[in-house]
Amino acid sequence: MILVIDFGSQVAHLISRRVNDLGVKTKIILPENAISEIHTEKPQGIILSGGPDSVYAKGAPTIDSKVFDSNIPTLGICYGLQLMMYLMGGKVVSGKKEYGPAKLKITNHKSPITQNIPENSGVWVSHGDEVTALAPGFIIIGSTERVPASFIENVTKKIYGVQFHPEVEHTEIGNQLLENFIELCGATREATAINIDEIVAKIKKQVGGSYVIGAVSGGVDSTVAAVLMTKAIGKQFIPIYVNNGLMRFDTEDHLAKIFEHTKIKIQIIKAQEETLKRLKGITDPEEKRKTIGKLYIDIFEREMQKIIKNGKNVKFLMQGTIYSDVIESKGTKNADKIKSHHNVGGLPENMKLQLIEPVRNFYKDQVRRIGKMLKLPDVFVYKQPFPGPGYAVRIRGEVTKQRLEQEKLADKIVLEELEKAGVLKGIFQSFPVLTGARSTAVKGDGRNFGEVVALRIIESKDVMTCKWADLPYNLLQTISSRIVNEVPDISRVVYDITTKPPATMEWE
Ligand code: XMP
Repeated sequence: MILVIDFGSQVAHLISRRVNDLGVKTKIILPENAISEIHTEKPQGIILSGGPDSVYAKGAPTIDSKVFDSNIPTLGICYGLQLMMYLMGGKVVSGKKEYGPAKLKITNHKSPITQNIPENSGVWVSHGDEVTALAPGFIIIGSTERVPASFIENVTKKIYGVQFHPEVEHTEIGNQLLENFIELCGATREATAINIDEIVAKIKKQVGGSYVIGAVSGGVDSTVAAVLMTKAIGKQFIPIYVNNGLMRFDTEDHLAKIFEHTKIKIQIIKAQEETLKRLKGITDPEEKRKTIGKLYIDIFEREMQKIIKNGKNVKFLMQGTIYSDVIESKGTKNADKIKSHHNVGGLPENMKLQLIEPVRNFYKDQVRRIGKMLKLPDVFVYKQPFPGPGYAVRIRGEVTKQRLEQEKLADKIVLEELEKAGVLKGIFQSFPVLTGARSTAVKGDGRNFGEVVALRIIESKDVMTCKWADLPYNLLQTISSRIVNEVPDISRVVYDITTKPPATMEWE
């Protein structure tokens, strides 16, 4: 097995998942437990994750440098590489910052870690610090244009380091590099396939004879979670959809189809007026998320009371939380909080229901695979993800009834045109953002100082990184013309061409 030491990386769990996908077991541990875990687990390899800190910052997470004398093959990724250099006598400085795509050139093909890796390839980076002097015994085996020490090794000690991220999908050589590392570790391979029966058995055991209310939204995560729940506990599962007006325009129709398929009745609660009232005057994204999250839970608790009065013992609330929600909401000790996804960080502390989250440990592409294993139709499984706080985080500033209507109409136009052009299937998410910025337009012969809409249309698989979709100009033109013509008070449409990292997918 391979130990993954987590320094607060957004992607520590993803590193572990990639290694698992290659058939090797992993354990994610905290840096302070490294030596004791090495003694008890006897790992065949060690991976040091990235992290948000600088190695020289006060209180930055570190490890006992005896780890590097353990004679176990070690791979340091980003902060992991910098920490290795810092602890072994190299130099790390606040250097040339790189975020997003970069070009890697391999300069040593003889190393076991660079086998079958082409001389030039695209990698993804996200760092502010840089190694400027290597620790004794290390050499450079690959560089990017901006950072010479991007790939280093000490063959004698079997210690390797990369300044880029092999675990993210857009690093073309990522899997090969991890494969090479696993090979040189001599790590034992075993099957690590997703096991539906195990997931279902776990739910049954956790729930026992009680009832579970399910928060469903029509999205793939909560749909797959709901189908797993029905498989495990049948009618003890009570799905509820809170229509707070912030969800995608076609959600009720979509949900009707899903629950026709599962043959379980869904309850729909209308809460649009109440939601807009609570959001009045709120402009801060985090406050929006918290407000929506709180109202959402209040409504669930209200419904639970009604169901309990009818004699049902409700103990759990099911949510379709997935792993990227957890990590971006500061789900691990050293991670930075990027935003409070409402079904993780936004929950009130005094919530009375216990949470049950059947797909919490999976990434989006794995949840889709589970959906396919459950034989769900493609329209359920490949539905575009939609954030819990919905349109609210796509409207910069205050959410009003009028802006909500503008956003919904623009969203409908974008989806219709992508569908018509036959490109929707390759798109991970597509949406307009009401940016809050205003610009001048001439409509007819009059001046209009309307709002600027930004289009965000992106490709991704595991949500941790994304590229903007390289769409034909005439398609972008059609979408733009339709939005400025059909949506009232919009003056301009711009296309967002920023990768993640550094930009997140949503604007808020
Ligand atoms: P970001 O913007 O963090 O988005 O790159 C990653 C994925 O998460 C979705 N997202 C959310 N989902 N509650 C959610 O349930 C939220 O508050 C939230 N914010 C972002 C986003 O749509 C993308 O799929």
